[in-house]
Amino acid sequence: MPSTATSADTFPQIPLFDLRLEQEDLDAVEAVLRTGWLTMGPKTQEFEAAFAEHLGCEHAVAVNSCTAALHVAYLAAGVGPGDEVIVPAMTFAATATAVLYCGGTPVFADIVGDHDFSIDPDDVAAKITPRTKAISAVHFAGYPAPVDRLREIADAHGLPLIEDVAHAPSATLHGRKLGTWGAAGCFSLFSNKILSVGEGGLLCTDDARIADVARSLRSHAMTSGTWERHTGQTTTYDVVGLGFNYRIDEPRSALGLSRLRRLEDDIATRRDLTRRYRELLRDVPGLQLMFTDASVDDSSCYVMPITLEDPARRDEIRIALREKHGVQTSVFYPAVHEFTAYRERFPGISLPKTERAARIEITIPLFPHLTHEQQDRVVAALRAEVGA
Ligand SMILES: Cc1ncc(COP(=O)(O)O)c(C=O)c1O
Repeated sequence: MPSTATSADTFPQIPLFDLRLEQEDLDAVEAVLRTGWLTMGPKTQEFEAAFAEHLGCEHAVAVNSCTAALHVAYLAAGVGPGDEVIVPAMTFAATATAVLYCGGTPVFADIVGDHDFSIDPDDVAAKITPRTKAISAVHFAGYPAPVDRLREIADAHGLPLIEDVAHAPSATLHGRKLGTWGAAGCFSLFSNKILSVGEGGLLCTDDARIADVARSLRSHAMTSGTWERHTGQTTTYDVVGLGFNYRIDEPRSALGLSRLRRLEDDIATRRDLTRRYRELLRDVPGLQLMFTDASVDDSSCYVMPITLEDPARRDEIRIALREKHGVQTSVFYPAVHEFTAYRERFPGISLPKTERAARIEITIPLFPHLTHEQQDRVVAALRAEVGA
């Protein structure tokens, strides 16, 4: 039995996402709170070691967001003023914004197409210039971007590949975990993510130098942390660079560690629900499923995206789903280059496939304890509104 009332209990609608914590999660957090040590310390080290083992990488460095992990990964890749990083525009803004934090320029590449919103390797290759410093790939909705091909392109040009794995813990390509294909994999522990702790992130890498940079920059580039001084390992510190406060804390690490033990089960349930959605929605006129049936096995199934044949009907359908059927939806994503701040900075960018995707996509509810009855309601609502 779930031990907490969840946000879904307080809304009549079927939410896009809902989080259920178990008693063991609450116990884990309470135990840490009772120790009185709240900033990064032994629980964070335990969480990092467990996540690294789970992923199969050498180093996992916990930070307070995926945005922070991306920022640090780009800095470790040497991105600075005048440098370009090739990124998708079909993503959350952070993938590109973290390039701007470094003083670099995000160069947007288009996506594969209507059925796969991953960054298109051919467009990436076409956009490489002498100023390119890194390539960034997002595993959209939990489905693998073609990081095998992207890695080949990156390697051929001596560029690091940075993976934004915010959606895709435990997802794979050719049996290899996402987040281990590039120089660094950046994960999100944000509230609505698969392994959520509220706010948090992880930078994962096999490269000891990148891990050292991340460990240093997450805490003001100090040569020792509060825990090391508290435990008498040193009495002082130096500041050896321009760092940040990107630290996670012990309660969040305890929650992450507790929830990590159920991650595979949660993802298995998400896959079952995704397969069921695909069966039930396959023949709805005007609606298309994304990716393939087989790709569900590789995906972490973070969200359930669908697309409409007619972009002109999207807003009206979303309103009807919410107001007539109590079904919350979202759009993954408005294209980053079309946001005001980006249009003003980088006018005139044209990414036809991304722009179309941003107008035809609807994300429908998906979370591990979504019931079949709720799922049937979502499907019936889509049949009534899209298939009408
Ligand atoms: C693809 C992608 N990248 C980065 C982020 C940023 O994650 P965080 O909120 O942990 O900084 C998100 C979060 O929504 C995301 O979806």
